[in-house]
Amino acid sequence: MNQQFAPKTFEPALHASADTVAVAVAEGDGIGPEIMQATLRVLRAAGARITPVPVQLGRAVYEAGTASGVSPEAWDILRETGVLLKGPITTPQGTGAKSVNVTLRKSLGLFANIRPCTAFAPYVATKHPGMDVVIVRENEEDLYAGIEHRQTDEVYQCLKLVSRPATERIIRYAFEYARAHGRRKVSCFSKDNIMKMTDGLFHRVFEEVAAEYPEIAHDHWIIDIGAARLAADPGRFDVIVTGNLYGDIISDIAAEVAGSVGLGASSNIGENGAMFEAIHGSAPDIAGQGKANPSGLLLAAVQMLEHLGQGDVAATIRNAWLATIEAGIHTADIYKREISCELVSTQGFADAVIARLGREPYALTPARTGAPVTAPTIPQIVRRRPAAKELVGIDVFVHAADVDVDSLADKLLIASRCQPVAVTMISNRGVKVWPQAQVQTLLTDHWRVRFLFTVKANNGLPWQLLHALTLGGVEVIKTEQLYRFDGERGYSLGQGE
Ligand code: IPM
Ligand code: MN
Repeated sequence: MNQQFAPKTFEPALHASADTVAVAVAEGDGIGPEIMQATLRVLRAAGARITPVPVQLGRAVYEAGTASGVSPEAWDILRETGVLLKGPITTPQGTGAKSVNVTLRKSLGLFANIRPCTAFAPYVATKHPGMDVVIVRENEEDLYAGIEHRQTDEVYQCLKLVSRPATERIIRYAFEYARAHGRRKVSCFSKDNIMKMTDGLFHRVFEEVAAEYPEIAHDHWIIDIGAARLAADPGRFDVIVTGNLYGDIISDIAAEVAGSVGLGASSNIGENGAMFEAIHGSAPDIAGQGKANPSGLLLAAVQMLEHLGQGDVAATIRNAWLATIEAGIHTADIYKREISCELVSTQGFADAVIARLGREPYALTPARTGAPVTAPTIPQIVRRRPAAKELVGIDVFVHAADVDVDSLADKLLIASRCQPVAVTMISNRGVKVWPQAQVQTLLTDHWRVRFLFTVKANNGLPWQLLHALTLGGVEVIKTEQLYRFDGERGYSLGQGE
């Protein structure tokens, strides 16, 4: 047995011995400590060639006054080890500190979040016995940019940022993943019928990149119907690549319909590091009761061992885990009287896995020992030639309460009368309300006024216009410059424009 580490008492030694790799380990919050203990016990018993280095992340760190939830010492350890096995961390809802999970993913450049969702029928109840889908989730941008503002009394906004380089890289990674794992199809999920520019870019890049992988089939689904089909008929899907928020939502759905979100594992992959975690949260309601299923974290640790080139140990653990599930030894989340034999605690489950190390499952497909899994190639970031960019106008967002749109329009026309601009549209939450409103449209105190320049613009013109508007008593809360890129419109039209 490998005695290099013990769950609770391991030494903070960054320098692993010659035959082991240092791995940062964060227990996390809620059920984190108990599932981490179970996981590390299995790793140790299986002879994983790692030296865990404990790091404190999350709640205790916020409470000790480091708002980011990651202390400078923790960053040092993470940089040095480059690999983190992480328990779930409670993310405050609504208010409070930013999510540590998201901070880690972005700060460490972990651009790809890989979430396999597999059924283990008939030993774990599922409507979809053959389900075997891998979700490749973009991990650094989209609405998870977390840039939010309250702009008026009534309106709040969150910016959705999608970049071409990150989109290209995640989509190419999905195809590389499919190639490395012998998967036949990659599906893209987006909502490009509504978000024609951000999701439109994602879909367009998907089509471009797909053409580089002619041996792999591809299709695109609008996220709503795609998610519905994924839940009802997952056999249609193989690898799915999607944006950050959509990927978050569909991976919980997919893991749950495959059997249980408690079995879901994920790897967060970057060029210079990787983080492995369960996909579920910290479940504070059952913390400390010994009820939690350690499988999500344990299977994440299996992914970590593959990543570290220890595919032999990974396969041994996975096979012992499959044999345990098959023996009907289940934690409460998957226990069903008709199919389970024994209800076990978190540690009882770990004991059962340890007792089966060296065994293969009878009926479930065993993990391949021997043949190492070749990691997908990490695509390079591609930067393109900058486009010819031409300033053609400005959207000015205005806070104005208790006004009718015609008097607001008059005020704007008067304030901007000496400027080289035309007011072409006023919208309220994206719906055109001037010229010609639909009377049914709900009007808030948040207006967007589109000015197009009537002369060839220079970068000073917007500021001159804003000055004039301010003098005219208009309360400007935000602006967006309107550009053409290589002659193509770089902004959306108003709804109904
Ligand atoms: C996940 C989690 C995280 C996310 C939370 C905890 C920040 O739900 O890993 O899916 O939203 O990405
Ligand atoms: Mn989630």
